[in-house]
Amino acid sequence: MTFLITAGPTREPIDPVRFLSNRSSGKMGYAIAAAAVAEGHRAILISGPVALPPPGGVEFVSVETSDEMFDAVHAQLPRARIAVLAAAVADYKPIEVAASKWKKSAATVMLPLTPTRDILASLRPAVGARMTIVGFAAETERLLEQARRKVHAKDCDLIVANEVGPQRGFDVDENEVTLCFRDGREEIIPRMSKNALGEILVKVFVALAEKR
Ligand code: PMT
Repeated sequence: MTFLITAGPTREPIDPVRFLSNRSSGKMGYAIAAAAVAEGHRAILISGPVALPPPGGVEFVSVETSDEMFDAVHAQLPRARIAVLAAAVADYKPIEVAASKWKKSAATVMLPLTPTRDILASLRPAVGARMTIVGFAAETERLLEQARRKVHAKDCDLIVANEVGPQRGFDVDENEVTLCFRDGREEIIPRMSKNALGEILVKVFVALAEKR
């Protein structure tokens, strides 16, 4: 099967030298891509800027902004059977990008932001029922409530929910997640390395795709 996987953060430019971004390291998405290839699948990995080398055997697409990630995902979508959106896409971007570097002054400055396009929510209308769609949810509070809402709001088959906190979630080597399936089933996967978790998740995603 062909996987389309997003990973890492996006960067939303403010001016030629500054951007809005987040702490995603790409480790979770890269581990899933590596595990998919190890299981004999194809993996198209669309990644924001991270410090990791692409895993061997993946087809790699490098992007920077949420708009670039949106376009790259939709360009590759027809080739994929399973979409796994593990990237931490910015929810907002500056309305305008300054052409030259903002100059420092003593004044308080305001930065008007506008919502980015939601890549995950755009998938089902584009592909219909043929594709297995997996999103992630990262929250600091009311994680499961948010994940249960997102699986329907974004029309996915599964949301992988991870709490953000010390030693789990963003920019660490381990993660612990709860799988929130669209049919209401839930399953806790205890803390383990992102590499080991990637192997388990690939098996879960393939089983879901085989049931479609
Ligand atoms: O990269 P690591 O350091 O290994 O950390 C892994 C991770 C914590 C980033 C990863 O496991 C994770 O949870 N990724 C999703 C983070 C996130 O942005 O969650 P969210 O609840 O804000 O978004 C929900 C889903 O919508 C996600 O699948 C996200 O990719 C998607 N989304 C969000 C906004 C947007 N504009 N477009 C999207 O597609």
